[in-house]
Amino acid sequence: MLPRTNCGDFRATHIGQQVCLYGWVQTNRDHGGVIFLDVRDRSGVVQVVAHPDTPEMHALAHSMRQQNVIKVVGEVIPRDAEVINPKLATGEVEVKIAELTLLNRAETPPFAIDDDCNTGEQHRLEYRYLDLRRPCMQQNLMLRHKVTHAARNYLDSQGFLDIETPILNKSTPEGARDYLVPSRIYPGSFYALPQSPQLFKQLLMVAGLDRYYQIARCFRDEDLRADRQPEFTQVDLELSFASQEEIMAVAEGLISAMFEAGTGEQLSAPFPRISYAEVMEKYGLDRPDVRFGLEHVDVTDLMKSVDFKVFSEPANSGGLVKVLRVPGGNAKLSRKMIDNYTKFVSIYGAKGLAYIKINDKDDIPNGLQSPIVKNLSEAALTALIERTGAENGDLLFFGADSKEVVNNALGYLRVELGRDLELYDAAENQFVWVVDFPMFEWDADNKRPQALHHPFTAPYPEDLDKLESAPLEMRSQAYDLVWNGTEIGGGSIRIHDAEVQARVLKALNISEEEANDKFGFLLNALKYGAPPHGGLAFGLDRVLSLMVDAESIRDVIAFPKTQRAADPMADSPSEVADLQWKELGLRKRRTLQEVSGES
Ligand code: AMO
Ligand code: AMP
Repeated sequence: MLPRTNCGDFRATHIGQQVCLYGWVQTNRDHGGVIFLDVRDRSGVVQVVAHPDTPEMHALAHSMRQQNVIKVVGEVIPRDAEVINPKLATGEVEVKIAELTLLNRAETPPFAIDDDCNTGEQHRLEYRYLDLRRPCMQQNLMLRHKVTHAARNYLDSQGFLDIETPILNKSTPEGARDYLVPSRIYPGSFYALPQSPQLFKQLLMVAGLDRYYQIARCFRDEDLRADRQPEFTQVDLELSFASQEEIMAVAEGLISAMFEAGTGEQLSAPFPRISYAEVMEKYGLDRPDVRFGLEHVDVTDLMKSVDFKVFSEPANSGGLVKVLRVPGGNAKLSRKMIDNYTKFVSIYGAKGLAYIKINDKDDIPNGLQSPIVKNLSEAALTALIERTGAENGDLLFFGADSKEVVNNALGYLRVELGRDLELYDAAENQFVWVVDFPMFEWDADNKRPQALHHPFTAPYPEDLDKLESAPLEMRSQAYDLVWNGTEIGGGSIRIHDAEVQARVLKALNISEEEANDKFGFLLNALKYGAPPHGGLAFGLDRVLSLMVDAESIRDVIAFPKTQRAADPMADSPSEVADLQWKELGLRKRRTLQEVSGES
């Protein structure tokens, strides 16, 4: 029997050979009696031909419908010079059918199985097995395989062990809502699906396994955005006896290996490191896109004594006044665009978007065009021009409000302007580490500090004495890796000292009882010779969607969930039988409608 050749592998060197191939019929064309079929498998597409001189095969080929599954045996022949297709890898040859077998029929698919199909995503997800037959989706999954393979190889070469951790779990405190699984054996009790392997990987360090990794499934019941899924994959690692710099170097080696496997390009590590304080000041967001400038300028101090209350009030009450200087913005930004940006920043709570057009910076105030110029003194305007380095033709945008509102509004506005004004080359890749995160942030709803990363992150030892007196001033040994403005991974040095861990939990207002109940096993483990350790996790799906410039994270996941956390193909989540409710010791709550309908 002839061995199988993959459809995409045929080349001129095969000419004259007898071959066997399998695949799906992509197209069927009749050219003056000669039948041409394009046959596809995951490797690519090849043309097969049936001539009228083999009437039986010719008739069979003629009857082939799209997406039928066939086997072809025949001879590889050169294409006529005028029909050579240089755009196709197999475009110099075709296979002359000697034997054609129909292995299975296909009904007419609900949408075209090709890359230009413009069917809605819901429909694609409903027939995901057909959607995944499209070449672009197959490319994505093959790339995913290559990238995880490279990750495994790299981590293996660095002495990491691939160890699985449980899926039926106890809640992991990563800050999102848990997915819960009711227990049949312990009615009223629940497992939680892991938000990450965080606690278990730390226990593996206590156990002395030294270097762990896992391509781990994580589950988070949170509001979904374009770059989030309820179920996603991390390339997760942890190592003992390593400094923050050493862990970041391993992570750089890992992402470089993954990047090279996915794109063929090499990254130049080490990547720049920027402190959290600096990124917030310059970019307003903790995941800066550093492919372009357009940095924020803090002018809070200059606005304290102006008459304009919109600026002076936040400046004098712990808020922020910041400027975004758009070079040449005067000509580039129309009135309509400015109005649209004003609407855009309102999403982030900004009450307006004041601006000044710099026509002639040496003629203050007449050379400055803006509805707010009349509210600012000449001295303040002069100081503004100087601080921002404004030149004639520039446009200054202003944000004045609480720190959070200003940073978010001007942070996202900067990203928006960068894209709209094409301030960077879309093919460029910039990786940057954000380091020195604050240990805690203020949770205004619950009026207590909360961990910025997670409660097991170690503070800088020199900041430890602020734990009780000024916790919000403490910096942690946490680090995030940001690629073109997307956070693709993060990690930290962990607390390995049981006493420090107890103090941190106390600062977080987590009682001893609650801590023991939630993660007492980790707190206990720290008492039995826990080594210094730390680690990090990359979001694999995010990395891949950036690599292929996917429209959504779903395009790099074989069977993703919709924005509403559902699977339209399998129809999950779905109801379960009454018996299952009973076995799990659960009772349905009647809806208000049911209750009122009864009475
Ligand atoms: P963190 O919560 O920062 O850290 O997650 C690490 C990375 O996982 C990705 N990610 C997601 N990807 C898709 N959908 C989601 N819903 C989602 N949530 C997170 C992001 C993120 O950078 N245990 C720690 C890591 C550690 O400290 O070692 C953790 O899970 O790319
Ligand atoms: P007003 O005094 O409300 O007419 O606002 C004058 C200008 O300031 C308008 O261009 C508003 O868009 C802008 N503005 C109002 N509130 C803010 C704010 N909090 N931050 C920045 N600009 C603002």
